[in-house]
Amino acid sequence: MFSFFKKKKSEVKNLVEVKIVEKEDYEDVLFVAEYFKNETGIVFDKNVGILKDKLVTFCKMRGIPSFKKLIILIETDQKIKKDFIDKLTTNETYFYREFAQIKELLKLVKQKSYSVNILCAPSSTGEESYSIAIALLEAGVSSDKFNIVGIDINESAIEKAKIAIYKERNIRNLSLEILGKYFINSEDKYILKEYVKSLVTFKTANIFNKSFTALGKFDFIFSRNMFIYFDYETKLKAKDILENMRKDDSQDIFLGHADLFINRSN
Ligand SMILES: C[S@@+](CC[C@H](N)C(=O)[O-])C[C@H]1O[C@@H](n2cnc3c(N)ncnc32)[C@H](O)[C@@H]1O
Repeated sequence: MFSFFKKKKSEVKNLVEVKIVEKEDYEDVLFVAEYFKNETGIVFDKNVGILKDKLVTFCKMRGIPSFKKLIILIETDQKIKKDFIDKLTTNETYFYREFAQIKELLKLVKQKSYSVNILCAPSSTGEESYSIAIALLEAGVSSDKFNIVGIDINESAIEKAKIAIYKERNIRNLSLEILGKYFINSEDKYILKEYVKSLVTFKTANIFNKSFTALGKFDFIFSRNMFIYFDYETKLKAKDILENMRKDDSQDIFLGHADLFINRSN
C-alpha cells in the first residue's frame, strides 16, 4: 500500500549526500584576544595559551569550526556573546575580602548625615556588595541610610548575585554569629536572607559602555580586583570613568591592593 512512497533501490544508490564541512581553524587566537580586549578591556597577553584552550573548548562544544566564525557569531548572536564573555572573565570573590577597606567605609558613612549611594563595579557574584550591606548593619547604620548598586559584565555572575546562595568557600571569612544572623544554612548551602538581598540592586554592565555611566554619581565607589586584568592604558581609562562617577572629587576610589600599581610595566 505504501509502495508509491518508496524509492526504488537503484534511485537510492544514485543519491549522493552532499555535506559541506568547514575546515577547522583555531590558529588566530591573537585576533580573538584583541577583539575581547576591545570589548571588555581584559588582556590575555601573558596567558594566550590558556585563552586558546578555553576558546577551542568553547567552539568545539558549540560546533563552531573556526575563530573567524566565532567572531561572526558573537557579532550576530547575543547569547553566544554573553557565553563568550562569561567564559573568559574571572569571577573569584568571597565575603569580607580585604575587610580593612570596608571598615574604612563604615567610618566615612557614619560621618555623613544623609543617605549614601555606594557602587561596586565589579561586583562579580555579589559577595562584596552584600559584605558592605552586612558590615553597615553590624556597625549600627540604618538600612535607609545607604543604597548599594553592584554591576558586572558577566551576566551569569549577576544572576548568581541576585539568587545569593553561597558555598562554604564564599563565606569562609564570616563568623558563626554573622552567618546565623544573615544566612539560612541548608546542607552545604548558605542562603542570604531576603532582607539583606533587598538592600542591593544588581545590573549587568560593562564599565566602558554608556549604560554604565548612566547609573549616575556615587558617594563611594569600590572597584577591586578588576584593574589587574587591564593593561596600562585601559587602567587609566577605567580610573577616569570611575572618578567621573564620584559625587565628591576628593573621595578616593576603593581599589584592590593588586589594582593599585598603575604603571607602564603591568
Ligand atoms: C575577580 S572579580 C572581583 C570581584 C570583587 N570586586 C572582589 O574584589 O572580590 C573581577 C570581575 O571583574 C569583572 N569585569 C571585568 N571586566 C569588566 C568590565 N569591563 N566591566 C564590568 N565588569 C568587568 C569580571 O566579570 C569579574 O567578575
